[in-house]
Order: sequence, then C-alpha cells, then structure tokens
Amino acid sequence: MIKYPCMWGTAISAGQCEGGCHKGNKGYSIGDTQSNERERCFKRYPLPDEHAYYAMQKGVEFYEHYEEDIQLLKELGVQCFRMSIAWSRIFPHGDDEEPNEEGLAFYDRIFDLLVQNGIEPIVTLSHLEIPYALFEKYDGWENKHWIAAYTRYADTCFSRYSDRVHLWITFNEINMALYLPLSVGVGVDRSEHQEECCWQAVHNMLAANAKAIQLAKAVNARNEVGAMIAYSPIYPMTCRPEDVLKADEIRSNALTIADVLVHGAYSDTALNRFEKAGIDLKMSEEEQTLLSEQRVDFLATSYYNSIVASSDDAAVKASGNLFGGVKNPYLTESEWGWTIDPIGIRICLKELYDRYKLPLMIVENGLGAKDEVIDGQIHDEYRIAYLREHINEVLKAIDEGIHLKAYTMWSFLDLVSASSGEMKKRYGLVYVDLDNEGKGTLKRIPKDSFKWYQKFLKKQHI
Ligand code: BG6
Repeated sequence: MIKYPCMWGTAISAGQCEGGCHKGNKGYSIGDTQSNERERCFKRYPLPDEHAYYAMQKGVEFYEHYEEDIQLLKELGVQCFRMSIAWSRIFPHGDDEEPNEEGLAFYDRIFDLLVQNGIEPIVTLSHLEIPYALFEKYDGWENKHWIAAYTRYADTCFSRYSDRVHLWITFNEINMALYLPLSVGVGVDRSEHQEECCWQAVHNMLAANAKAIQLAKAVNARNEVGAMIAYSPIYPMTCRPEDVLKADEIRSNALTIADVLVHGAYSDTALNRFEKAGIDLKMSEEEQTLLSEQRVDFLATSYYNSIVASSDDAAVKASGNLFGGVKNPYLTESEWGWTIDPIGIRICLKELYDRYKLPLMIVENGLGAKDEVIDGQIHDEYRIAYLREHINEVLKAIDEGIHLKAYTMWSFLDLVSASSGEMKKRYGLVYVDLDNEGKGTLKRIPKDSFKWYQKFLKKQHI
C-alpha cells in the first residue's frame, strides 16, 4: 500500500502576528495602513495617522514574544511551523539598496530557535506583507518592476537562511490578487481594465515565482520551493447543466494559476478566455521560458470552506475565504458565515492530486470563532470538533495514497483577521489577551484545542 509521510504543524503569518511595526527599522506594509473598517481590503489607504489604532501594526507582538511562543510550539509537539517573513522588515521600502540588517537578524534568531527545537520551518516570502512604499512608487504587481524587487528580496532570504530553511513558499494564495487585489498590492483602483490588471499582476507573480525557484536552487540544491493558491471544491447547486458550467467557470481561476505553477504554461482554454475578455497579458519570451523551466516542487493550498455555484442570481449568498458562492443547505456555517465542510478538504486534496500528481501541502485550515475566557481557560470544543473532523478526512486522503507533504493548521496563535482586521475572530490554539481596540495584556493561554492537537501530534510520532 502506498502511504506518504506527512509533517504535522501549525501556521501564522508575519503581517497578522508580528507587530513591532516601528521597531528594527521596519517599513510599512500595506496591512499596517489598513484601518479596521469592514471594507479594509477593498480600499487604498494613505500613510497611517499616528494617533489611530491599526491592528496589524501591533499584531499579537510575536516580535517581542517569539521566545515564549516558540517554547509553546515545542510543548505542542509540532514537526513543522509555517510562518512568513515581512518583506518590509528586510527591505523597508521594498527595493532599498541594502537589506536591513536588524530585520535579517530577527529572523536569524527565530530560525535558530526553531531548528534547535527540532521544528522544520516552512517559510512564505509574501503573505500580506507588501511594502507600502513600493506600492506608492510603482503602483502594484501589475507593474513589471515588482518582479525584480521581489526576486532580489527572495534571493536575499535564500542566501541568508538556506542553511536552516529548506521549504519555501513564494506567495500566499496567489488567487487573492483576483478577489482582494488591493490587499496584496495590485493597483486595481487606478486601472481602466480591472480584470486585465489583476491577471497581469498574477502573471507577474508567476514570473517572479519561477525566477525565485531558479535562485533558490542556485543557492542550495536542497531547497524545495512551492507556491500557494486558495482552493475550494466548487459544488453545482443542482444538476442543471448551467449550474455545473458555473461551478467549472469559478474553479478555472484557481486552476489556471496552478496549471502554470505545475505545468509551466497557461492552458489553451485559459489563453482563449483571456482573449475573449480583452485581456492582453504582457509576457516576454524570456518569462515564458522561465515558467516552463522552473516549476514548483509542491503545491500548497489553504482550505476553509467549500463553495456552491448557482446560475440563479437570486440564490442566497454565503461567505467564505476569498469569496463565498451561495448557501449550502446541507452544511452548517461558522459565526462569520463560512461554510463548514470537513469532507470538502478530502475532495480538495483528491482534485488537486489527481490533476497534478505532485506533493501537496495544506498550509491553512481552521475555524475563526469568538472565544470566552472562563476562570482563565478557553473551552473551545467547537474548534476541536472542526479540527477533528477535518483532520479525519485528511487522514483518509493520505490513506487513499495522496502525497500530502505537510498539514499546518491555522493558526498557532490568535491573530488579526486578514479580511476584517478583528481580533475577536480567533483562530488560535493559543489565546492572546488582546481585543479589537488593541487593549489587553498579550498574555498567552493555551486553549483546550491546544491540548487536543498536542495529543493528536503525540500519536503521529509513534
Ligand atoms: C487566508 C489568509 O486567506 O485566510 C490568512 O491566507 C487569513 O492570512 C485566513 O487569516 C482567514 O481569513 P480571515 O479573513 O478570517 O483572517
């Protein structure tokens, strides 16, 4: 029987956790400028007003608490830890002449500690940490200047950390550029053809990913590089052919991106779709060669919810990661209206593995919920149920022969929600005493789900 080993771990991102925005010469990321209003991901913001509160500037102060946090990680018993580097901590303006030594040294300390504790780092180079100054200077990722700036940043990280880090993810959820463009540095608001602008940005990220793979391998042949999409199974609402077609249409955005990452080229159908939509991608021959020669070693994805597609515009809408589709009458929802579908994670793995036959990673999967502290404890049985049911399906997928290289649940610590900027939407195994207004002691308290996952992890080592 074929059964691949899977590394089990947990995840955070720098932008949502690190804080220390004004420490160590860090520059602003776009997230540091986003206010906490509902429409935050859909707006471009001016430089922060120093009297207002910006949740991502503080995160949960991992910058100051990392030693205590890594100690907790060790107690948890993870094999791997997915985290990200804040580009604006390494190059405060995105393309400075020299990298910021204080920023580089900060991650040195983190990787040293992880390795000393036997925890394998999985490092994302760009996860909502887009240098604000670069966005102002060149506009967004639709501009080719970003490829050179990003690859220089990536190369700086490979050169500095490849003795301790071997698993790299170039970009978090590349398809976010199509749905929440302004939050990942796509200047869609100043474009006359928004769809073209988003796809050009995606293409430039794909070109940057390919160049980064080449650089990573040149620095250390042991480096393995993957990239990430957000992937959800898309169910047609009914067996009406129109609904099935609609599901296929929605699915094609994520798969167009994954096809380039894995196969090294756009499919003919994707190129035809672009042409029909008047999307004229600027793509040099050199880039095309790079795409075909430098392909990912693994494909990473997040999974939060499945999506239902309907050709009926009046169908009741649902929410979800990136977008929600319509309501699924067979499933329940989180407090934020995201569909909860444990079997969906197995379907997601099967679909991706059948199509790509490449090692996969689930690098985010978890439940955003309001937690209550009762006598100093957090009894989050709802999160335990979510994790237990999803992990059971992941185990079934592994048993079926799917090569899942790593599973890192989201998230290790409570963190600032990417879409809403709230602290009260908590994902962590570890509670952090901090509220939406930035008040609290920052005390860390392992929740019941921490103890549950700890037990699960112990069994995986046997
Ligand atoms: C993913 C992001 O899209 O969704 C994470 O990569 C994010 O950064 C997660 O936290 C959950 O979304 P939200 O908006 O609830 O934080």
